[in-house]
Amino acid sequence: DTSFTSVMAITETCQQNIPQQYVLPRSQRPNTTLVDQISTSLPVIDLSMLDHPAHRSQLILQVHTACNQLGFFQVINHGISTMVMKGALDSAEEFFDLPSDEKMCFASADVHKPVRYGTSMNHELDQVFYWRDFIKHYANPISEWIDLWPSSPPTYKEKMGNYGMLMNLLQKKLIEVVLESLGLNANYLQDDIKEGSQVMAVNCYPSCPEPDLALGMPPHTDYGTLTILNQSHQGLEIMDHEKKWHPVPFIEGALIVQLGDQFEVISNGRYKSIPHRAVVNVQKKRFSIASLHSMRLEKKVGPAPELVDEQNPVAYKEGSFGEFLDYISVKSPTEGKYMDILK
Ligand code: SIN
Ligand code: FE2
Repeated sequence: DTSFTSVMAITETCQQNIPQQYVLPRSQRPNTTLVDQISTSLPVIDLSMLDHPAHRSQLILQVHTACNQLGFFQVINHGISTMVMKGALDSAEEFFDLPSDEKMCFASADVHKPVRYGTSMNHELDQVFYWRDFIKHYANPISEWIDLWPSSPPTYKEKMGNYGMLMNLLQKKLIEVVLESLGLNANYLQDDIKEGSQVMAVNCYPSCPEPDLALGMPPHTDYGTLTILNQSHQGLEIMDHEKKWHPVPFIEGALIVQLGDQFEVISNGRYKSIPHRAVVNVQKKRFSIASLHSMRLEKKVGPAPELVDEQNPVAYKEGSFGEFLDYISVKSPTEGKYMDILK
């Protein structure tokens, strides 16, 4: 039996208190961890600078600083219209509003499934549950996967598919500038990136009556090269190198870029993947769409030879997205990082 109780279903009956299963141990609650109250400015990069050759080197420098200090930045003027971004978020909302049985036909805890509806992180492995429902689907190449996506709501495939294809184009541009910012050739691993894997994680975080006791997602890093995140409201927090949490300010029309473990490996540790978590709130249901990019399943990724020398010996073993999936299919992401076995 693969079915489960979604957070959407719980919120229909629970008004004052959240079920015990969602209450985090005290030390893991969002209000007991060090949060930056006077929100320091987090990097925002204007991608239109890419269109002006005179500004390109300045942009590469900004990307280098953001990746070096955090592994995170927001992008504006990225060429994706607000209508397309909103269309995808609206489709997400309509999907999660469907009656339970229409969603449950996609239910699975098997992380290898190309389309999968679930709750928390992995409802079969998690000790504590997270205040999140999700549907994840493969997206590259779109023609290979889109038939498996939800047919209801009727515009889901069109709106989410169009958004997903644009994300796949944008990630190629972003990867090029991140590679350049490492001093690597922008064409490095080009074919692997073109044939890379894209998983779209569509998240729903219903409003939560006790947001100080729970999280929408626990602290984690994303596995792949990079993630592009589109959100309906604020709710993402990132952790800096001093282990201090920063709420990411909501900027209308901006997209969030986060470096994943594969870039940490490729860069031989010059850049680190960014730890992040999702908080929940009493007022509003929040939606987010994470476009998770990585090399194809079987591709073994190791440090770029150009970034290895006597002062910087090889710091990571080779790994692949497929091996990562095998790892998390038996271990909850909160139990240990796949990255730690690559070090
Ligand atoms: C994610 O970690 O993939 C999503 C976080 C968010 O919803 O802000
Ligand atoms: Fe994530």
